[in-house]
Amino acid sequence: MAPLSGPTSKTRKSALRHVLLLCLLLPCISQPLPAPSPSPTAAAPPAATLHLSPFNDRLDAAYVALQAWKHAIIEDPKNLTADWCGPFVCNYTGVFCTAALDDPHILTVAGIDLNHGRIAGFLPDHIGLLADVALIHLNSNRFHGTLPPSMQHMRLLYELDISNNLFSGGFPSFLTSLPSLKYLDLRFNKFDGELPDAVFGRQLSLDALFANNNRFNVTLSSKSLTNSTASVIVLANTELAGCLPPSIGDMADTLVELILLNTSISSCIPPEIGKLKKLRVLDLSRNELAGELPESVGDMESLEVLNVGYNQLSGVVPESICLLPKLKNLTVAGNYFCGEPVSCLHIPVRDDRMNCIPEWPHQRTHEECIAFEHRPPVHCGADGCIVHHPL
Ligand SMILES: *[C@@H]1O[C@H](CO)[C@@H](O)[C@H](O)[C@H]1NC(C)=O
Ligand SMILES: *[C@@H]1O[C@H](CO)[C@@H](O)[C@H](O)[C@H]1NC(C)=O
Ligand SMILES: *[C@@H]1O[C@H](CO)[C@@H](O)[C@H](O)[C@H]1NC(C)=O
Ligand SMILES: *[C@@H]1O[C@H](CO)[C@@H](O)[C@H](O)[C@H]1NC(C)=O
Ligand SMILES: *[C@@H]1O[C@H](CO)[C@@H](O)[C@H](O)[C@H]1NC(C)=O
Ligand SMILES: *[C@@H]1O[C@H](CO)[C@@H](O)[C@H](O)[C@H]1NC(C)=O
Repeated sequence: MAPLSGPTSKTRKSALRHVLLLCLLLPCISQPLPAPSPSPTAAAPPAATLHLSPFNDRLDAAYVALQAWKHAIIEDPKNLTADWCGPFVCNYTGVFCTAALDDPHILTVAGIDLNHGRIAGFLPDHIGLLADVALIHLNSNRFHGTLPPSMQHMRLLYELDISNNLFSGGFPSFLTSLPSLKYLDLRFNKFDGELPDAVFGRQLSLDALFANNNRFNVTLSSKSLTNSTASVIVLANTELAGCLPPSIGDMADTLVELILLNTSISSCIPPEIGKLKKLRVLDLSRNELAGELPESVGDMESLEVLNVGYNQLSGVVPESICLLPKLKNLTVAGNYFCGEPVSCLHIPVRDDRMNCIPEWPHQRTHEECIAFEHRPPVHCGADGCIVHHPL
């Protein structure tokens, strides 16, 4: 099928005609097509948009998109789409209309919310006809397949939450060219392949990225992740290649939460991480981090939760960290730390088990700690990587 048209109303109309033609051949449109606007039979639309006609070209296009979508649904256990019939799409469950941004006299579909619907099906290509949509929330359904490329026409799409579905395939590359996208939540799907550098780029400039619990591979380098302007980055349970680069400090102005839990990353923790003064939550647990915990982590004055548990870190837990004014939850368990200042005992929630702290409860065995001490010392390269064979 030909690609759907661009966002201008003229091209949208021609695409609509094209789609209507196709659709008439399918049993998908059992309802009569919408009356031309304005319709004298139109009843009261939602209060905020009382004065707007419930019929126009954009709602006609939305009608085609939503009918195609309804026909791509195999199971709908909560009957959320049972009322998706009849021409006035603004009354459909989970469909939200508002005055168009570019024309306050026109009602258009601005949001779709089918969260927790447990709906099984896929997203048809016609969904791109919802060209004014700003929010799509499909959290906790059973949609499968890929995101149709026609979604690249959603130039106003601001929040896309498709978490906890069965979507698969590579990262939908068109997402990186959506000019309004700020909140991207892909977690708990079956996406795979490389997460493109552009996800972290300033051109896309996401505010929040949740990509955890897919099958993505991510390659960290000074040119990717650390360009991000997001406040929240969650890549947990994902394969990360590369090292934590010193440029991680470049995200100082924006980063509030960084979750790299269980990513198999093998790296040192570069001292530049201390520049992240807005960071409130840092979770680097269950990786292959080695070397010492930098003293500069004590500069991260907003830090509330720090988890570096279950790595290969050694040395002493820096006192500067335990003096952080907002720190309320510190996990250093499962490393090879050999000391912890008494000031750490004041942190409300603290887990320091399974280390090598002498005379301290719940530590590793003496044998394990001695064996660790006999390993060659870890050196950290300027790129943040572990240098295995220093000359
Ligand atoms: C939308 O729903 C309201 C309330 O159920 C109803 O009164 C109105 O007729 C519907 N509007 C249209 C255009 O179908
Ligand atoms: C959905 O509709 C079907 C058929 O009308 C009905 O049997 C079922 O009980 C409905 N389910 C819910 C959750 O309303
Ligand atoms: C990240 O920033 C560097 C330097 O400004 C630039 O060369 C690179 O292309 C950027 N990468 C992305 C993915 O935006
Ligand atoms: C992704 O990671 C897996 C597991 O480490 C690896 O087997 C695979 O080769 C990687 N794929 C790419 C494209 O890097
Ligand atoms: C860790 O991440 C891998 C994928 O990289 C996943 O298969 C595994 O289940 C995760 N482990 C836990 C405990 O969640
Ligand atoms: C403290 O942090 C750990 C690890 O990040 C987490 O599992 C735990 O739930 C947190 N505890 C509290 C009370 O916030």
